[in-house]
Amino acid sequence: TITGLSALEILDSRGRPTLSVTLTAQDGSRHVAGVPSGKSTGANEAVERRDGVADHYAGQGVEEVVATVEGEIASHLVGHGWDGIWEIDTTLCGVDGTPNLSRLGANAVVGVSMAAARAFAHASGQPLWRWLARDGVAPRLPVPHFNILNGGAHAPNQLEFQEFMVAPIGAPDLPSAVRAGADVYAALRALLVEDGLDTGLGDEGGFAPDVDVETALRMLTKAIDRAGYEAGRRGVAIALDPAATGFRGHDGRYLVGDERLSAGDLIDWYTELVEWYPIWSIEDGLAEDDWDGWATLTQRLGDRVQIMGDDIFVTNPQIITEAIERKVGNSSLIKVNQIGTVSRTLEAMAVCRDAGYTQMISHRSGETPDSFIADLAVGSGCGQLKSGAPARGERVAKYNRLLEIAAANPDLPYGLG
Ligand code: PGA
Ligand code: ZN
Repeated sequence: TITGLSALEILDSRGRPTLSVTLTAQDGSRHVAGVPSGKSTGANEAVERRDGVADHYAGQGVEEVVATVEGEIASHLVGHGWDGIWEIDTTLCGVDGTPNLSRLGANAVVGVSMAAARAFAHASGQPLWRWLARDGVAPRLPVPHFNILNGGAHAPNQLEFQEFMVAPIGAPDLPSAVRAGADVYAALRALLVEDGLDTGLGDEGGFAPDVDVETALRMLTKAIDRAGYEAGRRGVAIALDPAATGFRGHDGRYLVGDERLSAGDLIDWYTELVEWYPIWSIEDGLAEDDWDGWATLTQRLGDRVQIMGDDIFVTNPQIITEAIERKVGNSSLIKVNQIGTVSRTLEAMAVCRDAGYTQMISHRSGETPDSFIADLAVGSGCGQLKSGAPARGERVAKYNRLLEIAAANPDLPYGLG
């Protein structure tokens, strides 16, 4: 039985308001969730609600969302016993009544759903990651994808691509992978200083120098080498999230430097970049509504690199099902707040698994120190997690949680799987 539900307006890592939700269970245990918030959001994401009161955090406040959790949502949940997270999530979606959770707010719903998952894990006597593991899924420690160079919507520089990540795929274990991430991050900082470039940080803790895409890739490869690792899948590979919706012009062309590229031109360029640099994964290489371009990109590069959908799939089981039918992508990014509940997140992952699509669990650019996604990455056995740079509290909270799980469970395998 849920005996209490409360929420609080708190700050996220960008200094914008978000909420924490606290659920109290019958045994008096309290379960807290911090709600993340994206900036380069997909058009079809579940909708985050904000108050729009101009003199309170410039309209970004969530006091009314807090009131919704403590009022309407609590009235449906508190005082009742629940059989599982699925039952709670179905109730929340039913009470909301919209397809995108816009009435209650996906930020309210996801906070309650995450806190409820923690309560169920506690009641079962299991750590969250083990409780989140579903039948037929073998938990494993994921390859951390460290976003060490930021552009796009996450930084004030002119760099078109949003995320340049390093992935220690070849590391022998999770602690070595975390160390590799930190080593490469430090090496990149040293290279930037040598070249007189800016070492200021973007929203996810990566450096945000004013360089172009190929300079960024050269520096990343050099940083991997300098730090003493082999560049590529046997050591430390590169993963890109261009977040291409962000640099597409009104005429449908992709704007890179002085060039106006068609989808075909951009795919040609990706093919060259994959040739020249140790890139193993490309997320959102094309815009979220460019389904034909996506199909071509998948045909051209799908057997060589992971072609991952974020803004285009928005962790939505229906959209991913359509993508599978149309042979669009071969992998999906997974964000709990994009679809709004833990249950639907697990459903999206099951759809991917059944079709052989790989998955990567992801943070948002606006975060709290909540480490729920680290447990989700381990329990789902998907083998991949991105949580920004190996620096800044809200980013390392997830990597540190992985280290804790690894230390307590020496038999858990590490890697892509
Ligand atoms: P967001 O970006 O959290 O700002 O939406 C993350 C991503 O595009 O992967
Ligand atoms: Zn993305």
